[in-house]
Amino acid sequence: MPGDGSRSPSLLYTRRDTLPNVPDLNVQLSRLRLKNPILVASGTFGYAREMSAFVPFEKLGGIIPKTITPLPRAGNPPPRTVETACGMLNSIGLDNDGIDVFVQKHLDYLLGLGTSIIANIAGHNLDEFVRMAERLGQFSQLAGLELNISCPNVTGGVDYGTDPKQTAAVVKGVRDVSPLPVIAKLTPNVTDIVSIAQAAAEAGADAVSLVNTFSGMAIDWRKRKPILGNIVGGLSGPAIKPMALKIVWLVAQKVKIPIIGVGGISNIDDVMEFLVAGATAVQIGTANFFNPTVSAKLVDELDITLASLGCQSVNEIVGTLKC
Ligand code: SIN
Repeated sequence: MPGDGSRSPSLLYTRRDTLPNVPDLNVQLSRLRLKNPILVASGTFGYAREMSAFVPFEKLGGIIPKTITPLPRAGNPPPRTVETACGMLNSIGLDNDGIDVFVQKHLDYLLGLGTSIIANIAGHNLDEFVRMAERLGQFSQLAGLELNISCPNVTGGVDYGTDPKQTAAVVKGVRDVSPLPVIAKLTPNVTDIVSIAQAAAEAGADAVSLVNTFSGMAIDWRKRKPILGNIVGGLSGPAIKPMALKIVWLVAQKVKIPIIGVGGISNIDDVMEFLVAGATAVQIGTANFFNPTVSAKLVDELDITLASLGCQSVNEIVGTLKC
């Protein structure tokens, strides 16, 4: 996998402590306010404990812990990950201990980390989404709920994001029972993602996360066998960045709610590209696996890059692509 080398032309400033003015990194995504636009993506940061040696959590715009479901899930059979050219395939299958363990074991810890915590939830049906949203809605310190309606590794419910009506139903159902900001995480494995983002917006989503992984597979041709135990999986990492970027740009032109860009972001150029394409915030995902310190570093680099451009605020950059 590539490192996080930057392609930027030389910047006016190279160290954050030498900046004459530190730009304002606050971003507003409908009802969700973040101190900066750098989030870490669900499924790439565990429940944060495992990253504590690498990341000063309070620097981040927010943390989205691994998807939780109503009951514990063992996930899919191994092997569940495989490295590919500039990316990785996973077929984890939403392995998690369930919402009870999340609330009892992880939530207090997460809420004490000095950054916004957005719980990511998945259900097999509308009722499961609604019940989880209702329960988590009682924790007003949570910054929001991200609805995983886009996991390619599990069937039922989590593929709601392939249909505009189902997407709208789950977003509306969750909004009706929870006061927390709602983010719909959408799948790129559809013909018309704009119509699905539009449906989420009309149903009351505060933002959409674009995009979850691209469906793919890996084969050991010598054994004539698929490598993943689940046969197929979701592709992430730098390999998908151009496709995710295009989707963000496409949706930004048509849909009014804010976008959180996700897909192969691993360096400051990637961050800037997604912001210029129309994302108000971004999630760092697979890069956490090959460079666990990258997320906090990107916050500093964002300050330096914006200051070098003479920007007072990150919002001056969002959606500024000239076509
Ligand atoms: C998984 O647990 O299978 C990955 C999560 C996702 O793709 O949403």
